[in-house]
Parts: sequence; C-alpha cells; structure tokens
Amino acid sequence: MDRPAGSVTTETPAILRALSGEVLSKPPIWLMRQAGRFLPEYREVRARAGSFLSLCYNPELAAEVTLQPIRRFGFDAAILFSDILVVPQALGQKLWFAEGEGPRLEPVDTQERLAAIDELADDGKLTPIIETVQRVRGTLPRQTGFIGFCGAPWTVATYMVAGRGTPDQGPARALFARNPALFQEIIDRIVAASITYLNTQIAAGVDAVQIFDSWAGVLAPEDFQRWCIAPTKRIVDGVRAVNPQVRIIGFPRGAGRLIPDYVRGTGVDAVGLESAIDRDFVRDEIQSLVPVQGHLDPQILRAGGPELERETEAILAAFGSAPFVFNLGHGILPDTPISHVERLLKAVRG
Ligand code: CP3
Repeated sequence: MDRPAGSVTTETPAILRALSGEVLSKPPIWLMRQAGRFLPEYREVRARAGSFLSLCYNPELAAEVTLQPIRRFGFDAAILFSDILVVPQALGQKLWFAEGEGPRLEPVDTQERLAAIDELADDGKLTPIIETVQRVRGTLPRQTGFIGFCGAPWTVATYMVAGRGTPDQGPARALFARNPALFQEIIDRIVAASITYLNTQIAAGVDAVQIFDSWAGVLAPEDFQRWCIAPTKRIVDGVRAVNPQVRIIGFPRGAGRLIPDYVRGTGVDAVGLESAIDRDFVRDEIQSLVPVQGHLDPQILRAGGPELERETEAILAAFGSAPFVFNLGHGILPDTPISHVERLLKAVRG
C-alpha cells in the first residue's frame, strides 16, 4: 500500500491488517447488520428502548447492542449501532420509523422543501451517537476492529427525496432527470454532513469507516459517475484530509462491472461486494486494486445446510489468497438461525 496505516503490527486487529493489504491465513470476519435484528438479546434491549430511533440515540443501550454480537460470536469487527438516516435527521428532515414498515421522512423533492431544512447538519443531534462510539471504544477487546459508517449520498438521497424506501428508487431518479441542480444541492448537503460525521466518529474511536451505497446498482454508467463516484470521492477526500491513517471501505452494492471505476474514482481502501458478482471478475479486476470484503448470500446463510459449507469454501478458495475480509453480500436477514452463524464462523476459522 502506498499510504501508511499508522503503524501496522501483529498487535493490530486482523481486520485492519487485511484492509491494509495483508493476506492472512484465516480472513477476518464480521457481518453487515450484525448489530440487531436476528439476536434475541437485541430484541430485548430494543423493547426496553421503546423504539428503534430512541435506541439509536441512547448511548448506553446502543453501545450494548453494538457489543452483543462481539460477545456472542467474537467477530473480528464491531459495527456502530446507528442508522444511515440520522444524517438527514441532523439536517432537520423529519424522520420516523413506521413499526414493521421501515423509515418514513417528509420528502424533500422541491426547492421549497429543501429550503425548509437546514443547510448544515446540527452536529449536536449526533452527539449521543458519538458518545456511543466512545463507550464502545472503552470496552472493545484490543483484537477487535471498530467500524463506523454513513450512507453514501446517492442512497441517503433516495430516502430523502421519496420519504421512504422504494423498490426502484424511482422518485430520486425522476428528480435528477427533471432537476439535476436541485438534486446536486441535496447531494452536496449530504456530502458535507457525512464528512463531519465520519471525522467525528473517527475522533471518538472508530478504526475504519464504511460508506453504504445500497442502491448504487440502479444507476446507469454516467449517472453512477455523477451521483455515486463523484460525491463518494469528496467524502473520501474530506476524511483523508483529517484522518489519513483511517481505512475507508466503499460498498456500492450492485455496481458489478463498474466497481473498478468506483475504486479508482473514489480512492477507497477496500470495497464490499454484493453476492451476485462473478468471482473471476473480482479476482482479475478488483482484488488486483484493493482488498475486498464480502460476499456470502444472506439467503444461503439463512438456509444453512451443505450449501452454506460449499459456498463458504468457494468464497475462501476464490478470494483467500489476496487481502480479504469475509462478510455477507448484504445485511443479515432477521430470521437467520444463530446456529448457522456459528457454523459459518467455524468454516471460516477452521
Ligand atoms: O450493521 C449494523 O448492524 C449496524 C447498524 C445499522 C443499521 N442500519 C441498524 C438498523 C446499519 C449499518 C444500517 C444501515 C442502513 N440503514 C442501510 C444501508 C445498509 C443496507 O442494509 O442496505 C439502509 C438502507 C438503512 C435504512 C433503514 N434502516 C431501513 C430501510 C430500515 C428498515 C428495514 C430494516 O432493515 O430493518 C432500517 C431500520 C434498521 N436499521 C433496523 C436496524 C437494526 C431495524 C429496526 C428495528 O429494530 O426495528
């Protein structure tokens, strides 16, 4: 690697060594969305907190659910318990979660509605989340990495514009086609807020950050350049300017053959892979550029059985001889049996 990661030693958590380009005999492993959802101990704390958002803004309980999967499984990294939509909320957009349905926001889809929210994020609103980071840092085992995150501007904008999750991100795509200048303004606000937010997480103790672009896969190549690569590069540059030692993982889910452009265009240190991607392509065109993370299909983990062992072996065989972090291709499904996660860990760690 051409950019030093502070001092990488054998004391450094395995995940940071892998993200810095080291090939390990057993790849480090963590699972996207490991904090929450599928764990009974999460559901218990979630019920105590009352709602998902009050859990996000309660440092004591959010730290507890961040640590739960580490205690139970000993994953190589913890991921901060929060959500990508706290950034629009800090920008003054109303956010709530409809029980059993997912996020709802007051849509920002006109100049008037954009004018009604804040130009700059109110960092005070994010203070409890930063306090969660500090609490976790204080108790996390030394060998465990700590990952902070934000949503990528494109994915966050799809929720801000539509006011909810959409099957095809239609409202955001319609807006950038109809009024690219307005869409750019929305993106710019998310970029600025995300840079500050990530740098604050890093100052409070995370070791690496991941930028989740869950809906990158719907963008055609030029739109991908403009709305995914360009704003993500600005975030990477803004974080590097303050924290050159910190590893940045990009996750442009579904970008497939555009991933090499994404890696070169954004400058991320490592890239997350979706499940449906050709492994030869990854080996030849992506692993030669940066460490990769992924990409077990969450459905296969949920199903378990011999297919889980086979697929795990296939992933290890394909990616294990270059820098690699084992993960899923998207978040763990809420009804995944705990015994399947235990089996996966055994298969990866031997
Ligand atoms: O990875 C982790 O365990 C850390 C916490 C985390 C959450 N959301 C907690 C959460 C992270 C990293 C996210 C990211 C996130 N949030 C993304 C990007 C990754 C992805 O999965 O594509 C997106 C698109 C969101 C927005 C969001 N938050 C949606 C669409 C939903 C509802 C559907 C769902 O996934 O449950 C949420 C709610 C949410 N975020 C929950 C959790 C634990 C469930 C809330 C509950 O307990 O009721």
